[in-house]
Amino acid sequence: MIMNSALGRDAREDLISRGYSRRQFGRVSALLGIGAAVSTGGLAFPGRSAIAAPGQARTLARPDLSGMIRIGTNECWTGPFPAAALAGADMVQHGNRYEPSDLRQRLIDNVATVEKVPVSHIVPWPGSSDPLARAIVTFCSPTRGVVTADPTFEEAWVTAAWLKIKVSKVALRPDNHYATDVRAMLAADPNAGLYYVCSPNNPTGTVTPVADIAWLVENKPAGSIVLIDEAYLHFAGTPSAAYLATQGKDVVVLRTFSKIFGMAGLRLGLSMARPDLHERMMRYDGRMQSGALSVVALAAGGASVLLASDIVARRQEMIDAREATFAHLKSRGITHLPSNANMFMVDWGKPAADMKAAFAAQQIDIGRDWKIWPTRSRITVGSASEMKSFCSALDKIMV
Ligand SMILES: Cc1ncc(COP(=O)(O)O)c(C=O)c1O
Repeated sequence: MIMNSALGRDAREDLISRGYSRRQFGRVSALLGIGAAVSTGGLAFPGRSAIAAPGQARTLARPDLSGMIRIGTNECWTGPFPAAALAGADMVQHGNRYEPSDLRQRLIDNVATVEKVPVSHIVPWPGSSDPLARAIVTFCSPTRGVVTADPTFEEAWVTAAWLKIKVSKVALRPDNHYATDVRAMLAADPNAGLYYVCSPNNPTGTVTPVADIAWLVENKPAGSIVLIDEAYLHFAGTPSAAYLATQGKDVVVLRTFSKIFGMAGLRLGLSMARPDLHERMMRYDGRMQSGALSVVALAAGGASVLLASDIVARRQEMIDAREATFAHLKSRGITHLPSNANMFMVDWGKPAADMKAAFAAQQIDIGRDWKIWPTRSRITVGSASEMKSFCSALDKIMV
């Protein structure tokens, strides 16, 4: 599916009033035109614009990992929950209809029930990369920057940098379980347009207490928002910040079905926010509201959110595999950061890029390093057997 990337008059006027130059329109169009179809985790699908937006360039450069153990890109080790897969498969039979039944509304209703967020505050998307990039365009500008942790999921800062928006990066807090340092974020740019908090954080898997996020929401400058990316929340099982959206605060809370729900290739995500914030995010492309979503993804996603005991069981399966891996690392004297989610940072004490190559030679794709930590690799927690293979390969590499 390719979205029309031409910006309407209202959208152009909005961008100009917030300090964007006409020369940046092409970049905004490219970003939003492809954002619907492409994500860092999804399939490549070039948009109409001649300009390659950041997500597109990365996705097109993705290496072929077939035949390898894949613990490098934070996908789930297995597919959708069985009941969700059945709901999706059933919908394939009805794929001749644009709207076989009101699947979009059913997904929203189910999310509202589970999350205790009003239906008016929930918008589904084809993944969460689109609303993330869109939030940068909407709430940041050449005069209002973005603030993120470092390391964190880079989509926010890569998008902002590409649009020539100021990016401020703040170190995590080693003194507080590597949580996001919300006070330092505010100090880094007291007039930012968007503060991005990823909790649990990618790549560390560490959680920022909801009380810290609420503090940032109360103390941030007027006219800005706090974007809370909860892509990995179900893997941690910790409280959500979604109640801040219910209270009508200046927040956008993002979720994805690409992680614990095992639907990365099916493309489904959610944002939860006050309706006026969503309206602003959608002014660049009103058609996003309905036409863009696959009925298979909607059916599988709508079923997934209700499967509370499956979620708990999958989380426990991940924790068991993660803790067994930690025990092995400890036995070898290799350190890692603490983690509450399905990924962790291991410190090799030597260039992480070399270790990635050494694992690749053993047919194991591990994650990459972040510039700020060149000796640490991100490892995604795979199945118990994949993590055993990781440990065996490590033993061979470290002899
Ligand atoms: C923190 C975080 N947010 C958002 C995304 C985007 O995921 P998707 O577009 O598949 O929903 C990812 C993907 O890895 C992620 O790690």
